[in-house]
This record gives sequence, C-alpha cells and structure tokens, in this order.
Amino acid sequence: MSYCLLEHIVKITRLSSIGYFTRPRLTPCAEVTMDSHCVGESDGLIFCLARPEDYDDVMAISQDIYGGNDYLPHRYHSWMTEPGRVVIIARRDRKLVALESGLVVDGGETVIVEGLRVCPNERGCGLAGVIQTFVDGYIKKVYPNVKTKRLTRGDDPGPEKLRKFTLQARRAILSLFGNSEGFDSFVSGLKEKLLASDGSNSSRPLVSVKDLGALKALLLDSDLPPRLQLPGNAIIQDWQPLKLMESNLHILARRNLTWFVEDGVKPLFMSLHTPLYPIPFNGGSLRFNIDLYGTDTSLAKKALTAHLDSVISEIQGVVVVHIYMHQNLWDDLKQFCDGHDTVKQLQDYWKQLLLEREF
Ligand SMILES: CC(C)(COP(=O)(O)OP(=O)(O)OC[C@H]1O[C@@H](n2cnc3c(N)ncnc32)[C@H](O)[C@@H]1OP(=O)(O)O)[C@@H](O)C(=O)NCCC(=O)NCCS
Repeated sequence: MSYCLLEHIVKITRLSSIGYFTRPRLTPCAEVTMDSHCVGESDGLIFCLARPEDYDDVMAISQDIYGGNDYLPHRYHSWMTEPGRVVIIARRDRKLVALESGLVVDGGETVIVEGLRVCPNERGCGLAGVIQTFVDGYIKKVYPNVKTKRLTRGDDPGPEKLRKFTLQARRAILSLFGNSEGFDSFVSGLKEKLLASDGSNSSRPLVSVKDLGALKALLLDSDLPPRLQLPGNAIIQDWQPLKLMESNLHILARRNLTWFVEDGVKPLFMSLHTPLYPIPFNGGSLRFNIDLYGTDTSLAKKALTAHLDSVISEIQGVVVVHIYMHQNLWDDLKQFCDGHDTVKQLQDYWKQLLLEREF
C-alpha cells in the first residue's frame, strides 16, 4: 500500500522556508518505487512500516536516548506484532533517520504516540514535526475513528511549546539506582522503617490482586478515578496512559503487571509494577517501573516496599527504579528512601506530563 499525504505540503513548506529541505516536491504516488511496507514519501524521505529487520538501524539512531533508560531496545520486537500498533520509520537515502509509533486504545477512539526519535545529526531541524504529521495522517487513514491523541513526556518545555495540547496531569518521579546487593539491604531497611512506624500508622494493609475478575471490578468502578485522583482519569502504566475501560483491560492484561491495592471495599490506594526489563544504562542494566495511585503517604511507603520486595530475587547487576506518583507524595517518599549508601537517587525531582489533543 502506498499513498501520499497532502498535509505534508504545509509542513514541508515551513521547513523549506528555513532552508533545511529543498523545495516541496511530493512525487505522484504512481511514480514512487517503494517496497510494499512503505506507506508514503515526501521530499527525500520515505516512510515505511517498521519491520523486525530494521532493528539495528533503529538502535543506531537511539544511542544515549533518555540517559540510557530507553525501553525500545527491549520492546521493539513485541511492537512489531502488537494489535493496534503502528510503527513508522523515515529513511533518507536509505538511511533510517526517524521513528514514531502509535498505539490505538480506548476502543479505537484514542492514539497514544510513543517512541519518537530522530537521528542525532538531524535533530533541531524540524524532522520530529514531519514524522509526527505523517504518522497522524497515516493513523487517520487506517483508524478513522480515532478522535484523540494522547502522550506522556518527561520534559516540560512550557505552555508556549505545549499550546496545541491540554495538560491533563503532572506526576512526580523519584528515580533510584543501585546494584543487587545494595537493593537487598535497602529493602530490609525500608521494612524496618515501616515496622518502626507501625504504631503511628492507621492505614489498612495492602493486598496483592491476582484474580482478573477482582482486578476488573476494581478498575471499572466508576468511583475509582476521583477516589485515587487518577491523572486525567487514566492509569499511566510505564508511561502509557490508558483510560479505565474494558477494551484497555486487555492491553493491561498483556503486560504481566503486579498489582497491590489497599484492602477493603473502596480502596484509597492502588499500585502496579511492570516486570524488570533490560536497558542500555551503564553498559547494561535493569529498569523497574512502579506506578502509585492515591495520596496516602503510609500506603505509598508500604506499596513501594512491597513492589521492591516482590522482585528482589530477580534483581541482577545495576537496577534503575522509577517511581511515578501524585506530586504530594514525592518529599515523603524521597525521605523514606534516603540514608542508604547502596541505593542512591539517580536524579532530582522530575515530572511526567500527560498531554492530550483533539485528533
Ligand atoms: C525529541 C526529538 C525527537 C526532537 O526531534 P527534532 O527533529 O530535533 O525536533 P524539532 O525541534 O525539530 O521539532 C520539534 C517537534 O517535535 C516535538 N517534540 C520535541 N520534543 C518532544 C518530546 N519530548 N515529546 C513529544 N514531542 C516532542 C515538538 O512538539 C515539535 O513538534 P511541532 O513542530 O509540531 O510543535 C529529538 O531531539 C530526539 O530524537 N531526541 C532523543 C529522543 C527523545 O528524547 N524523544 C522524546 C520522545 S518523548
């Protein structure tokens, strides 16, 4: 399949005016010689659906992304077969220069865009905007019911840069790192702190939720988003924001998540972790993501300890832990984790932004 998208003309014209691209020159589709997985071209760029064999080229433009915390080396191959996922690469003169992906969620009404990257020597010239426009156009053609575009990002370029989006929520992130021996003593230390504060702590215990029926009842309770102050009424699982609706539960079910929830009929706290996965950090490390929902500090401390404890036997080498939470929790959780030589804070306070716009 191949088609050309007129929307690019506007963008390409803008880029041409700053001298980066040559004059806009959309080749008529019939004249384009492209492989069957290629879905469009404009002004020297060919856009194709990514294939497993593009892996090395994608990794070649991904060096040092997110300070070594890039998930794509680990996820790329599962993205190739994930239902509702589109992964588009752009090539110039056969060289892969950019990638963006979209996952269609919310029963087909929303696309979550992820994975955006441009090769280092083409950054700052507008190529990210070009591939974003192309992917939007492609998704509109293939999934005409999509009405909303949603994304998360870890930097905050300010309201002017974000003017096209509605800022749905800001979350705080606490990032730690250490090695496996360090985490053993760190988790023992956290348990001792919890025991020491038990007398002054009236919160109910946390329980692990493994039964899918129980999880479904919990997540589809319409009262849950306000009770847990969910960001934009969504769950953000390892940067992926999903509204709590039945079709999205199938997506969550694929992720092999571990859930804890405050015991009781109307819990005030819920948390989940994504299984450890390898990242390039420090020449090869593990990444562990914990998402906390609710604002109760003592439950947040219990949840953090429970999640770490549940993976302690799987930790090998260096581990980077990212804990995403309501902004009110950050100071207390940082203090809770302070004072351990073996597990240190990786970076200062940083944020996760949840953004949405009409599509
Ligand atoms: C971020 C990156 C893709 C920007 O590429 P670029 O071609 O230099 O970007 P430009 O400044 O020329 O274009 C800016 C466009 O990219 C978008 N953009 C920039 N950073 C972004 C981010 N972190 N998340 C989403 N979009 C981003 C801007 O909104 C802008 O779009 P607009 O023109 O429609 O407003 C590039 O620097 C890169 O590959 N960095 C490493 C990977 C990375 O940090 N990706 C962020 C994904 S969350």
